[in-house]
Amino acid sequence: MSIGVKISGTGSYLPDKILTNEDLEKFVDTSDEWITTRTGIKERRIASDTQSTSDLASAAAIDAMSDAGIKSEDVDLIIVATISPDAFFPSTACYVQKNIGAINALCFDVSAACSGFLYAMQIAENFISSGQRKHALIIGAEKLSSMVDWEDRNTCVLFGDGAGAAILSADEENGNRRQILSSVLGSDGRQTDILHVPGGGSACPITPENADQKLNAIRMQGREVYKYAVNAMRKAAENVLDKSGMNVEDVNKLIPHQANLRIIEAITDRMGISSENTFVNLDKYGNTSAAAVAIALDEANKSQAIKDGDIVLLVAFGAGLTWASCLIKW
Ligand code: UT7
Repeated sequence: MSIGVKISGTGSYLPDKILTNEDLEKFVDTSDEWITTRTGIKERRIASDTQSTSDLASAAAIDAMSDAGIKSEDVDLIIVATISPDAFFPSTACYVQKNIGAINALCFDVSAACSGFLYAMQIAENFISSGQRKHALIIGAEKLSSMVDWEDRNTCVLFGDGAGAAILSADEENGNRRQILSSVLGSDGRQTDILHVPGGGSACPITPENADQKLNAIRMQGREVYKYAVNAMRKAAENVLDKSGMNVEDVNKLIPHQANLRIIEAITDRMGISSENTFVNLDKYGNTSAAAVAIALDEANKSQAIKDGDIVLLVAFGAGLTWASCLIKW
């Protein structure tokens, strides 16, 4: 018999430093008007030189454990979703384990770009519902400022740093609240080149020459990614509703990946979801990849934008290509 799983807490951490569109105008050929109308982003957070992804992740983790009312020793699984790990190895999850003292946890990372937090959620749910683990800490965390080409206006205006976390726990009383009703995960490896970091891995180790060409920075064919994002997120959202036998009228709040307000509006227009029922915070943080849905979920929870009994639809899309959707009864 499978064990009930609930989201027993959420947390987030955003670095203090704010980089506004006006700040960007001073060192790259762009404008607040272009960034606002094309993306909806007004500002983003930037981690300090001494903060790594695991530091952001650990702060979000502590916030989520406090919300769930559990101690670090109670956590028996840590999954960090990130594309900006502290190092190739060990996993960022192991650094988090050390930082927060979660000595009883099994730790690993997930690489699914912006869909990573929802991949982690599904993996953790499987660990718990099968009885293997009791309290999973899942985190989406990114220090994208460390891998952006700050001279490339096509990308540098889009991204930001931050972390969001959730605790998934075995629901012994089966309280029928904050539970994942259904999930959809997918990937299409034929499109690896439209959003990637070409250098720095085994296929293209970094040399002084290719470092000069900034091959270790994010490259994106924005328009291509945009088209895939709209279609893939809409399909994933519709599929996850189908799986639960629900339809779009049942959704109280959509929490989409926070990449571009135009992408979000294209999806909500096509699906018939109102802006009041859609959670958006990308104006404050930009695109924080795997952290975006996690931060938005925490803000929606703490600000009461989602309430007990609400049907919450999470959906994300990212490099790989990858997509993911989860339907939750809050
Ligand atoms: O999180 C993972 C998923 N990522 C995404 O979902 C991102 C998907 N893509 C997008 O959000 C959009 O494609 C962008 C925001 C990246 C770009 O918007 P766009 O409307 O597709 O613009 P574009 O790339 O077609 O560029 C239009 C023009 C170009 O100039 P020309 O060639 O028309 O003269 C660009 O050079 O805008 C120019 N441009 C800029 N101008 C001022 C590109 N970036 C900037 C900039 N400031 N920062």
